Amino acid sequence: MKVIGFSAGSVGREGNVDRMVKAILDKSGHEVEFVKLTDMNYSGCKGCVELCARPQVCRLEDDAQPYYQKVKEADAVVIGTPVYFNTITATVWAFIERFFGYRHVDIPIAGKPFVLMVGGAMKLDFAVEELHRVLGKFDVNVLDTVRYLSKVTPCFKCGRHQECEIGGMYKMLGKAAKQVKVTPEMFTKWEDDCGVAAAVDAAAEKLKNL
Ligand SMILES: Cc1cc2nc3c(=O)[nH]c(=O)nc-3n(C[C@H](O)[C@H](O)[C@H](O)COP(=O)(O)O)c2cc1C
Repeated sequence: MKVIGFSAGSVGREGNVDRMVKAILDKSGHEVEFVKLTDMNYSGCKGCVELCARPQVCRLEDDAQPYYQKVKEADAVVIGTPVYFNTITATVWAFIERFFGYRHVDIPIAGKPFVLMVGGAMKLDFAVEELHRVLGKFDVNVLDTVRYLSKVTPCFKCGRHQECEIGGMYKMLGKAAKQVKVTPEMFTKWEDDCGVAAAVDAAAEKLKNL
């Protein structure tokens, strides 16, 4: 059994989203492939529908192209995304938009088991709903959705939180944000949250039992 997992986690480091997708894959016990979407160059669907209509797979040639056939062939798929501007990242949105290639006459990925993972600093609900809504177009079987609320906004890294009144840290802490001295321990990890670690195990177990 083959499981393929995609992550739109932050570029240049292995953040919570990457590590959660990898953990779900590894704990599934199946043959797995991990793909970091943020390391690739690709666009969303460009509407060349006559190309995908017969093969029922996206034919747009770029870094993402080979993975549409792999999604079709995989026994299960994992997708992880951070929350950006209250919803799923454009990186994941663009990737899924090209699932349109599967939507001709019938849907070859209908019923395929998917595990979803959403990680954000402050609010996850809308992103989770949006991910479910768009994947609902393909009648996939969402086995589980794992969430991780980090409370770590991009301000923890940007270096300007002490002079900022528009960022997430200010929204969370108000004026106290200006006094915060960011230390490495403040970068929370999903592995330290028992509830989230249990949710990762439970999702992996569902894949294992396929
Ligand atoms: C452009 C941008 C917008 C963001 N917007 C939100 C947001 O609206 N809500 C939220 O909870 N987190 C937001 N975040 C925080 C990310 O969701 C958070 O940094 C993410 O979980 C990081 O994932 P990683 O640990 O895998 O790198 C935003 C981050 C960036 C870079």
